[in-house]
Parts: sequence; C-alpha cells; structure tokens
Amino acid sequence: LMAEKGGYKHFMLKEIFEQPRAVRDTIAGRLREEQGDVYLEDLKLTDEELRGIDRICIIACGTSWHAALVGKFLLEEHCRLPVEVDIASEFRYRNPVVNDRTLMVLISQSGETADTLAAMREGKARGAKNIAICNVVDSSIAREAAGVVYTHAGPEIGVASTKAFVTQLVALYLFTIRLGRALGTMDQAKGRAMIGELVKIPALIEKTLEMNDTVEKVARRYMNARDFLYLGRGICYPIALEGALKLKEISYIHAEGYPAGEMKHGPIALIDENMPVVVLVPKNSTYEKVLSNMEEVIARGGRVIAICSAGDDGVTRKAEETLEVPSDGEELATILLSVPLQLLAYHVAVLKGTDVDQPRNLAKSVTVE
Ligand code: G6P
Repeated sequence: LMAEKGGYKHFMLKEIFEQPRAVRDTIAGRLREEQGDVYLEDLKLTDEELRGIDRICIIACGTSWHAALVGKFLLEEHCRLPVEVDIASEFRYRNPVVNDRTLMVLISQSGETADTLAAMREGKARGAKNIAICNVVDSSIAREAAGVVYTHAGPEIGVASTKAFVTQLVALYLFTIRLGRALGTMDQAKGRAMIGELVKIPALIEKTLEMNDTVEKVARRYMNARDFLYLGRGICYPIALEGALKLKEISYIHAEGYPAGEMKHGPIALIDENMPVVVLVPKNSTYEKVLSNMEEVIARGGRVIAICSAGDDGVTRKAEETLEVPSDGEELATILLSVPLQLLAYHVAVLKGTDVDQPRNLAKSVTVE
C-alpha cells in the first residue's frame, strides 16, 4: 500500500505533491502559443457555435462548485458573457432559465455525481448546449455531454479533492482563452500573455510545496481550535470556501469561508482570541481592502494566518503567521493559494488522528441523490 502511495503516508499528500505534474498534463498538447489560443480536442463546439452563446451556467457540487465560482470570474472578465453558477441539487429543482443560447458547463471530477448528471439532462431537455469538465475518462457525465474538457489529473483516491480541483481551475482557464479568442473579446496578445502565465504554474506549485514543513508547524499551533474562519475577496473568495471545506472534511473542525468584505455583517461577532482566521491576501486588485479586513480581525484579538505574496513585509509584520506564495498575479494565484490551504487541512487532520483519505460519512463520488 505504501508503494501505491508513492512513499507518502496518505493518498491525499501524494496527490497534493503530484499537482505540478497534474497541471502539466492538463496543459499538454493544448497550447497554440503563437496564435495566443488553445486547442481543446473534445470540445466539439465550433467558433460559430461558441459565438451563438449569450449566457453560461456552470453547475457542480462540492469542491467542483468552488472551481465553478472561480470560472465565473475568468469567463466574465475575458469573455464578457453573464455567468451564473449553481449547485447541481439546487439547479435541477428550480425551473431554471436556460435555452438554446445557453451553454451549460458541468464540472465533475468523477463524472458520476447524480445531481450534476441530472442537472445536465434538465438543461439538455430545455435545449441548452453543454460541455463537461471531467477527470474520469468515459464517465457518465463525460459520455452524455456534447463536449468534454478532460482535466487529466490522473486517478484521485483521497476523498478530499486536491489535484482534481487545481486542474479544474486550469481547464477553466484554458476554456476561457478558447472562448475569448472565438468571441473576439480576447486578442492574440492577451491570449499569448495568459498562456505565458500558465506555463509558469507547475514550477511555481513546486516552489510553493517547499513550505510543507512550515505549514505542519502552523497546523500544530492551531489544531485544537474549535472553529476556523477563512476570508477572501473576489476570485479568492471561492478559494476561502475551498480551504474551509478541506478542513471540515478531513479534520472535522468547523470552518466557514466568507467574503472578507461581508465579515462585518455577521462573522465578526465570532472573533475572539480563540478564533484562527485564515486570510487570503495576495498582492492583487483588492489587496488594500483585504488588508484592512485583516486589521479588523487583529483589532478584535483574532489570530490571523495570512496567505500572502512572497516578500510582503506589510502582512508579515501584522499577522500571527504568514505563509507566502510565489506569485502576485490575480487569476492563477488562486492555484498557488490553494496549496497551503490543502496542506494546512492535511496536517491538522493527521495531528488529530482522523482517517485522512477516507473521512467519516463522506464518499468520493455521490451517485445517489
Ligand atoms: C463528493 C466528494 C467531493 C466532491 C463532490 C463532487 O462530495 O467527496 O470531494 O467535490 O462529491 O464530486 P465530483 O466528482 O462531481 O466533482
């Protein structure tokens, strides 16, 4: 079994460390760097058909839903189409407004989640076009969808999704370039620049993974907390949700993700000297705003674990703990910020002695309603 785990103690840790390779595989053979475009072999939608879309609905469950929320930012920013994101079990029962000009994007690691499959069928019955972002080749959703973007992360065994999530973000980024180029909302130079950023990511994940031992020490100091709060803004908000979900799933500590700017409307009441608050504060367009949210937490005695850009002394001076990721970009920083959150959840769970790869009550894929 140790051999199956490649020498790692758990599949989850192995899968976290596989992420540079997984991302390389997601990208492999798909870049058209000269043209500033990407080629998605099983997308099945022509430029003409892509231009007929006036709205996108991204549907998923669990971690895949968090990837969907990141996808909304990417697609709205670069393709200028309205994007709605919904949880599959909500979408399928609410008489959704979709028609033949709607593109539904189903995101599912397993391709077998019952609610996501049903939501896809519901949309199809109303004439919507669809594509799936799946990891498992020939899974039910991949087979039934009109087109597929495979993530090629390789088999994911740990119930808590890690490399599948990160490669879903990459797949969404690739699809954004493809759609933006087809619609003409993204020019060749922009496409090239985005590809240029993407190809740097595997090496940057490798660099980020070097903080593993540091994160373990942080985990040791906070493992006895009863609750955790995770804060992020904009494209980092879904990453905060995902960080909180990872901790809940495997350590059984209650954790909540919140948009940093919304903290004053409720969660701020929870903050005291026992409350660890993980703040995602990379150098991006909302940096100053998040910094002031972080200061509000500190002023109320909260214990801030900041995840920030490398070399950010401003944050380091203020936060109790700082974990630095090697990027100050906006969109792909989401991938690098995810790594310390995965490692934090992992180490807290290991220290608490839970069954990391098979947490109680959870299933890798939920094929019943
Ligand atoms: C289960 C798993 C999660 C996963 C979710 C959606 O709850 O435990 O890790 O995110 O299903 O699964 P899917 O395969 O559709 O991405």
